[in-house]
Amino acid sequence: MNYSDFGLVNTREIFRDAIRRRYAVPAFNFYNMETLNAIMSAARETNSPVILAVSESAMKYMGADMLMGMVSGLKLRPQYGVALHLDHGHSLDACRMAIEIGFSSVMIDASAMSYDENVELTRHVVDIAHPHDVVVEAELGVLSGIEDENTQSTESNYTNPDDVVRFVSDTNIDSLAIAIGTSHGAYKCKTENAELRFDILAEIARRLPDFPLVLHGASSIPQHFVKTINENGGELGDARGIAPSQLRRATEMNICKINVDSDSRMAFTAGVREYLQTHPANFNPRDWIGAGMKLIAENCAAEIKSIMGSDGKL
Ligand code: G3H
Ligand code: 13P
Ligand code: ZN
Repeated sequence: MNYSDFGLVNTREIFRDAIRRRYAVPAFNFYNMETLNAIMSAARETNSPVILAVSESAMKYMGADMLMGMVSGLKLRPQYGVALHLDHGHSLDACRMAIEIGFSSVMIDASAMSYDENVELTRHVVDIAHPHDVVVEAELGVLSGIEDENTQSTESNYTNPDDVVRFVSDTNIDSLAIAIGTSHGAYKCKTENAELRFDILAEIARRLPDFPLVLHGASSIPQHFVKTINENGGELGDARGIAPSQLRRATEMNICKINVDSDSRMAFTAGVREYLQTHPANFNPRDWIGAGMKLIAENCAAEIKSIMGSDGKL
């Protein structure tokens, strides 16, 4: 199946508009019906394009048929501006499979490999994706933190601006994920005012004018979720994210896709913990799951407006 059969679009036009009008398209991860519906209701409410991101482990959790059944159930149309994206694909096979079942965008994450290996694998993915008009994101530089269930990195290597022009021309990718100080997971920063490396971002944007750049590990970890979780039996310690003002600033410098997963996990957990704590006699999962889903939808809509600036851009 091709993604157009599901009413999906690739991100080419969306990114062009995002660069022109200085906003970022949200890439929110989903892994079940609740996360998918919450993200879609936020995108609809705010009139925002949206990238539905699926990691390899989320794909395994849902199963490819169930995943595509749910996407099909959304009854999308191209004018809704929805892309389906493989997040952190680690192999040619994973990308090929995603393209075959109807994804409109894939990320090949070979950032932990050498430059030459990264180029070689990324080029292969581009070669199989472009004939289907599927777009490809790749990464240069390494983010610290837990990337996904398979990859963990303790060291952050910022993207070297000297490499970016050659990498884009060697691979023919459509967008580039860069490392400028964000990291995956809930424990990103030691202090509230940690600064991203805007000097590196500015230099990359100067060398790649009008080229779509991507920020992974961009959850802001709203502190009210941390508080709610901890007040209702959780033990999250010093969870802290990237300040929304930093992310907003990045959208003005060619960052046109911002990836958020941990914030939705936090929102869901906060909603569920609070509901169960305050309704001890309730054992209807639709109620407590619904409470988690509601907080994801509210938080996605809030971030679309205050961080991405993609509201009203459809
Ligand atoms: O950046 C990675 C995402 O947060 C995916 O994580 O493999 O646990 O689904 P996951
Ligand atoms: P967070 O852990 O900051 O939500 O990052 C998500 C991400 O980069 C998905 O690819
Ligand atoms: Zn990521």
